Amino acid sequence: MTKRIAVIPGDGIGIDVTAEAVKVLETLSMSRALPVELVTLDWGAEKYLREGITLPQGALEMFRREFHAVFIGALGDPRVPDMKHVLDILLGTRFGLDLYVNERPVKLLDARFCPLKDRTEADVNFVVLRENTEGAYVGMGGNFKRDTPDEIAVQEDVNTRKGVERILVYAFEYARQHGLNKVCMGDKSNALPFGHGLWQRTFAKVRERYPEIESWHLYVDALAMQMVKNPAQFQVIVTCNMFGDIISDLGGQLQGGLGLAPSANLNPGHVSMFEPVHGSAPKYGGKNVANPMAAILTVAMMLDYLGFPAEAASIERAVAEAVHQDKTTSDLGGALGTREVGDWICSRL
Ligand code: NAD
Ligand code: IPM
Ligand code: MN
Repeated sequence: MTKRIAVIPGDGIGIDVTAEAVKVLETLSMSRALPVELVTLDWGAEKYLREGITLPQGALEMFRREFHAVFIGALGDPRVPDMKHVLDILLGTRFGLDLYVNERPVKLLDARFCPLKDRTEADVNFVVLRENTEGAYVGMGGNFKRDTPDEIAVQEDVNTRKGVERILVYAFEYARQHGLNKVCMGDKSNALPFGHGLWQRTFAKVRERYPEIESWHLYVDALAMQMVKNPAQFQVIVTCNMFGDIISDLGGQLQGGLGLAPSANLNPGHVSMFEPVHGSAPKYGGKNVANPMAAILTVAMMLDYLGFPAEAASIERAVAEAVHQDKTTSDLGGALGTREVGDWICSRL
């Protein structure tokens, strides 16, 4: 069955890296008859500034009815300082499609690019599973007496038993399915006893169902420290929305930078969304300098999800080869541009 994929290049380098991700899909569709149909959507800062439209009416219904996956490059533009279109399109899709898992693998492809000394590829290979539909991201709150000396700002942190339980269960099931035996949960229950106390209590219950898996808890500050001190101890890290955002950028750098970090936003069994971890890096947009590998590895995650694991593995191999052979952009010390890296990877495919 043909898989329909909505493609939203977005803003800044999102546009540049998405062109290469699309090139990879088109290459596979020609050379290996990969049955995909791409529909590009011009949603982003330009459209918002021009027409006032962010996430168009009916968009989520359209995704559910007509698409198997959504690919987003990146969103964010200095001309929209309140991030209105980012919140509507990116968070709107995550929340609206109930994409409760944000899967962000941290895999060092080449030891030369790890900023930690004396670490090898075997030391940095884990996944961050970020809760993606709750926490501080729900947009509940407000400002009182705004722009006065007495202003009060409230931003609620919402944690539900169902929401916490399903991401924790996903983490243990992920470990089981991938032949892994270690799950670490990161929270801040020492300072946030209500919200993260719920994480602690739910974790204690869920881990009982997986006695073969070694599981433990770290406060997220100590977790961040341990990711740098001894990343080899981790296989699966599961945490809340905000902490997952922060530690996935830290993880991204451990693997050689955000230019190499892919991610998937999943509602297992339903239409899901795929995007690199990085943002729109506006100052590099349109300059043919951004590393397209995170976006291309994101395509691999998407194809794996859509039922094409062989093609996904080929993409991963081609990217690893490009890294080893220095067919890279300047963030990895290479001399190529965004398009040239994309072309090289496509030639391998
Ligand atoms: P960013 O990830 O866009 O960039 C931070 C830095 O990381 C860049 O200056 C660059 O040095 C490096 N970098 C990132 N991606 C790279 C790539 N592909 N190749 C080479 N280097 C790369 O983060 P930021 O500057 O904090 O955010 C810029 C905008 O993007 C903001 O509006 C932010 O809200 C938004 N953002 C969007 C997403 C998303 O759409 N998923 C994710 C993160 C940030
Ligand atoms: C990410 C980004 C987003 C987030 C922003 C742009 C809202 O940083 O995808 O990691 O915080 O989730
Ligand atoms: Mn982030």
